[in-house]
Amino acid sequence: MSGYERGRVMNKLADLMEQHTEELALLDGADAGKLLLLGKIIDIPAAVQMLRYYAGGADKIHGESLRVSGKYQGYTLKEPIGVVGVIIPWNFPSLMFFLKISPALAAGCTVVVKPAEQTPLSALYYAHLAKLAGIPDGVINVVPGFGPTAGAAIASHMDVDSVAFTGSGEVGRLIMEASARSNLKTVSLELGGKSPLIIFDDADIDMAVELSRLAIFFNKGEVCVAGSRVYVQEGIYDEFVKKAVVAAQNWKVGDPFDVTTNMGPQVDKEQFERVLRYIDLGKSEGATLLTGGKPAADKGYYIEPTIFADVKEDMQIAQDEIFGPVMSLMKFKTIDEAIEKANCTKYGLAAGIITKDLNIANRVSRSVRAGTVWVNCYFAFDPEAPFGGYKMSGFGRDQGMMAIDKYMQVKSVITAVPDSPWY
Ligand code: NAI
Ligand code: MG
Repeated sequence: MSGYERGRVMNKLADLMEQHTEELALLDGADAGKLLLLGKIIDIPAAVQMLRYYAGGADKIHGESLRVSGKYQGYTLKEPIGVVGVIIPWNFPSLMFFLKISPALAAGCTVVVKPAEQTPLSALYYAHLAKLAGIPDGVINVVPGFGPTAGAAIASHMDVDSVAFTGSGEVGRLIMEASARSNLKTVSLELGGKSPLIIFDDADIDMAVELSRLAIFFNKGEVCVAGSRVYVQEGIYDEFVKKAVVAAQNWKVGDPFDVTTNMGPQVDKEQFERVLRYIDLGKSEGATLLTGGKPAADKGYYIEPTIFADVKEDMQIAQDEIFGPVMSLMKFKTIDEAIEKANCTKYGLAAGIITKDLNIANRVSRSVRAGTVWVNCYFAFDPEAPFGGYKMSGFGRDQGMMAIDKYMQVKSVITAVPDSPWY
């Protein structure tokens, strides 16, 4: 298919997704305990936007002409890399699906997607809609299954040319190993984080409280870019803490299909128990539990919005990705101290800065080793903004036109030109 035709069928699929937003949001809600309302107004529309962004890119892929030395001319061809394996997690089933497959389809690749075992339903529905949209059989393949079987088969397959993965660091390593042992397929990894949100003395406190609450409790803290470490400058620390506790207590936990709910249950028993284990660990490491810290209901995997204060950088709750509604609060004095602390984890996915001082904002943005920095906002995602990690948050970028390059080979074609008026 030409790029133009690929873009057309991708847009058709996006149209069908818009017609079925309600069902798609319901499927992700039922699978993952995600809020139905936010599925309808955030997850599914953002997945549609991602697909349309790359549909628009499909007919704008071009190489370069090369003025090589000698009696030659050259050009580069960008070719689809081939079959792309996609292994995704359960926290944003629809968004993850389109984050990976949209640039791959724009590039002209075929994809084999393994959704997370917790959330296979919307992926199967997308395969069905793809057929209705006129996407040829064999282009979008969905293979539900468990990680060590279906996922591992993709990672070690000799006919898969590239793997795009989002999930845990542990599995990221396994995927690289499988690539190395099989056909050296290219790999891109997005492996989560422990992102700092740094709030300076001059910040509007109410806005800072609101953003910090959203940064850690949105989607029950099951977010790779969750603002799980909150650093507050000493001048506003006490006032911030009082307001943050009230804000957490007002964050309503309950039925994800009720429109007044702010936060549903954790995805499954494993994650529920993991988060509670980290809360116990925080207590035994000596952090001060300010609010929350327990299951929020007698049944189901609900956890109270939880805030720890007096957290130290060497505590495990400040270093590990908890992936739940647990905020670690820390106080700082100087900009230098904030920068040093912000950088002191193995991760480097995102960071937030709240200040009105342009010089602080610029200096900290450039000093934090993270793939995305949000200034006076958080979770401000857009298909246009490249997204990915520094350090052990992985490598490779999703989003932006540059993500299409992940799914292409560049071929140089050099031709002898024995007869030319100029060289
Ligand atoms: P995981 O990394 O095990 O699962 C992610 C995906 O990888 C799933 O599709 C899974 O089936 C697949 N997978 C698992 N083992 C595999 C293998 N051997 N080969 C190929 N694919 C495999 O993550 P899990 O166990 O669901 O969550 C554990 C922790 O990982 C979370 O608590 C969180 O800290 C982190 N995580 C980070 C995410 C992110 O957005 N970066 C998303 C999900 C989890
Ligand atoms: Mg796992």
